[in-house]
Amino acid sequence: MLSMESGFGIAWCAGEDAWISLTMIRPGELWNDGNGVPINAHGGGVLFHEGTYWWFGEHKIGGEEGNRAHVGVHVYASENLTDWRDEGIALAVDDAPGSEIPSGCILERPKVIFNARTGKFVMWFHLEPKGGGYGGARSGVAVADAVAGPYRFLHSLRPNAGVWPENVAEEWKRTLTEREEQELAALGLGGAPFPWYPREVVFRRDFEGGQMARDMTLFVDDDGCAYQVYASENNGTLHVSLLDETFTKPAGRYVRIFPGRFHEAPAVMKWGGRYWLFTSDCTGWAPNTARLSSAASMWGPWEEHGNPCLGSGAQIANSFESQPTFVLPVVGKRDAFVYMADRWRPGNAIDGRYVWLPVVFRHGLPVVEWRGAWEVEGEWDV
Ligand code: DGJ
Repeated sequence: MLSMESGFGIAWCAGEDAWISLTMIRPGELWNDGNGVPINAHGGGVLFHEGTYWWFGEHKIGGEEGNRAHVGVHVYASENLTDWRDEGIALAVDDAPGSEIPSGCILERPKVIFNARTGKFVMWFHLEPKGGGYGGARSGVAVADAVAGPYRFLHSLRPNAGVWPENVAEEWKRTLTEREEQELAALGLGGAPFPWYPREVVFRRDFEGGQMARDMTLFVDDDGCAYQVYASENNGTLHVSLLDETFTKPAGRYVRIFPGRFHEAPAVMKWGGRYWLFTSDCTGWAPNTARLSSAASMWGPWEEHGNPCLGSGAQIANSFESQPTFVLPVVGKRDAFVYMADRWRPGNAIDGRYVWLPVVFRHGLPVVEWRGAWEVEGEWDV
């Protein structure tokens, strides 16, 4: 039997002119596009639109400088989730005067959703203005008329300025006193887990200017409502925030979840009438132990279930050496979801790898099971 390497997959010759395609996903290994070039779409998400999957992610360059945006958001297209065509740069960095997305800004975790009412594709991402480290904690929004773009930068914002969360007690619906402000400043909260994190303080500090938003995802529910889930309050608390009808702004309704738990890298799926949230712990670029939570409604209450990873001891502890970015429903198959994660390489950002694994169900929970190599068809057609 002859075998032939073709891009990322392998084809096996089963007879004189019958080639059986055995295209496999190999988590953590180099993944080439149809041109034989490694796919460059980190911290990404996938939109299914009119028969095609569109994978959007951060285009990284080499070295540590690659952790900042120098090109933009790259998009790839596929019909089978394994073979990807390069469709170019969907949103390009822009060095025009006054641009909020110049080369050298931080632009992370882009996600695209389609708005059937406006007919527009809407991209949200974590944006840090150039030169400000991670202190800006803003969300950037861009729109396009065609799925692959070009996307036009619309605005950046800190979500929910002037709006109180729906799930806080009335007594906390007040801005900080001068003394509270001083006490909070003295803590020197950055973005790392903090043992005596003040749970009812940071969102009050940010009431007027808007809530901090770092790691983020988007989720569109069956009823057409779209949500942004973002790491807020110096990463200490996640927010679940409804988007308005155009999907380009918050609607002004949000809840805080898991205050003081420092979840990052949110990714949402819906299954069995519940919403399932995969997240990571908060350790910068270093991998850590993932977390699974669920709720009967996006508004909560949310419950933590622990670590969703199944594999060797090390794989369970470090989430297959990766951090979640998205959960992708496989269209046309029941209970079929692909868990997408990033194996970051902060010293040479372009060398970051993709860890895509099937979601499997154990004891009523969606969990992620290690595969060295796997096939989308083979996984769910049995
Ligand atoms: C962890 C986040 O999940 C990444 O997207 C990135 O912001 C790094 N922190 C930066 O340290």
